[in-house]
Amino acid sequence: MKTKMLPDSLCTKLFTIEQEHRRIAAFADKVLEEMGRCDGSEAITGLLNRFEILCKLHFLKEEAIMKETGYTFLDDHKRLHELLLINLDKFKQCGDVSAQETVLLFRNIREDIVTHLLNEGVLLNDFIRLNGCVR
Ligand SMILES: [Fe+2]
Ligand SMILES: [Fe+2]
Repeated sequence: MKTKMLPDSLCTKLFTIEQEHRRIAAFADKVLEEMGRCDGSEAITGLLNRFEILCKLHFLKEEAIMKETGYTFLDDHKRLHELLLINLDKFKQCGDVSAQETVLLFRNIREDIVTHLLNEGVLLNDFIRLNGCVR
């Protein structure tokens, strides 16, 4: 038996998180696509900077929402976000690699981030299902 329902405002935020996951995954695909056909490193750097900002803003928003919901594993989750951003930053710093290596390295970064998003998407759905939304 349900003892509480999530407030509508919180449910809206949780659904927004899912939309952002799709946006981040699509942006990562766009970066990969551009890497495959573009030899201008400035354009790629610009895209990577925008991708990093997108991830950072998302992680901050998500952590705030997790805090609001009383998510038990917030500290562990924050650490995961930090690691993903550290790896992305390391990737941005590795200058002397071929275009082919760059694509392979970014593919790994994308894989790690998208896997993270998919995993928490499942957790989020379970959380909403268990608590229920006032809609
Ligand atoms: Fe996350
Ligand atoms: Fe997320």
